[in-house]
Amino acid sequence: MKIPFVDLRRQHEPLQDEIAAAVARALSTGGFVGGAEVDGFEAEFASYLGVDQVITVGSGTAALHHAFRALEIGAGDEVIVPANTFIATAEAVVLAGATPVFCDVEPDTGLLSVRTVSPVITDRTRAIVPVHLYGNVVNIDPLLALAASRGLRIVEDTAQAHGAYYESASGRRRAGSMGDIGCFSFYPTKNLGAIGEGGAVCTNDPTLAHRLRQLRDHGQADKHVHTMVGDNARLSTIQAAALRTKLPRLDGWNARRRAIAARYDEVLSGLPATPVLRPAWSESVYHLYVMQVEDRDRWRGALGDLGIATAIHYPTAIHLQPAFAFAGRTKGDLPVAERMAAEILSLPMFPEMTHDEVEAVVDALSEVAAAITGSSARAA
Ligand SMILES: Cc1ncc(COP(=O)(O)O)c(C=O)c1O
Repeated sequence: MKIPFVDLRRQHEPLQDEIAAAVARALSTGGFVGGAEVDGFEAEFASYLGVDQVITVGSGTAALHHAFRALEIGAGDEVIVPANTFIATAEAVVLAGATPVFCDVEPDTGLLSVRTVSPVITDRTRAIVPVHLYGNVVNIDPLLALAASRGLRIVEDTAQAHGAYYESASGRRRAGSMGDIGCFSFYPTKNLGAIGEGGAVCTNDPTLAHRLRQLRDHGQADKHVHTMVGDNARLSTIQAAALRTKLPRLDGWNARRRAIAARYDEVLSGLPATPVLRPAWSESVYHLYVMQVEDRDRWRGALGDLGIATAIHYPTAIHLQPAFAFAGRTKGDLPVAERMAAEILSLPMFPEMTHDEVEAVVDALSEVAAAITGSSARAA
């Protein structure tokens, strides 16, 4: 049996008529940018997240870029970004004119923490970007306390954690709703994906919300009155209509992801492979199911031979990407992120996976583990 890493057709087939009707509804208005669909989605997503305002944009990258601009972070300012993330987190800092400063991550979660951020704070630091990677939430309360004590801003990168919860003594809050600004991507493979590109920012601060609305629309304060240099980063009406169809399903899809993950956890507990830890404070939404193994490329090859598609998120820690050589980090500087890049492997994970497919992955993991342990025992 061939198991795909992800199969978006299966999510869309049962929704096809509903999405087509939503798109037809949008088209019938004759408006293709903004309008009632965008306003409706922004209100519904704000209520889902428990925030005052959602401002949609054209992509997750634009969301992050605009967040820094709205916070007036730019030339001469530093923003702390984990080395284990998708490149866009750091790209957006550069797009805003600021400098990304990479920090290491915790070995068990792959997420940044107060411990890994503190050594790289300087007089120029203006913000920290907790990235809720793989659907796991960063331990944000201590980070918010650190930011408050040092006058720093928190921009959450929630591109991989739509619907995840953070649980602490201060309550249960959705990822993205806790910092100054939360940033989302609706790239089609995300837990909440559009039928093309899309993104959003959310905030409880009315001044920031006002700036964010201006930034996405050429800096307009009023018709033909441009009080800042902005961007063209508006969400298309059709994307908003599709997202409104999918949002009510998000919690159900996330629950199915958690059930698949529980089955993977069960089999991995007896194998020489360690799932990336979901911390106690995080109700994960498993955008990805990531495990760490010493002989990663061998595992990947053997799983592929058995028909199991896998992926690596991400094979190179971003401070070692050629595009960020200017940031001055070299190999060995952020050892945990670098080791993870060499050992992580993402297993098939999408809500529409069938029971038989999940069991096929589980069986393949056991078979590969037996082959690899057997051959290392023989070699010893
Ligand atoms: C962690 C993270 N940040 C930012 C982004 C950027 O989002 P987009 O692709 O919508 O620009 C992504 C999406 O791929 C991501 O995974």
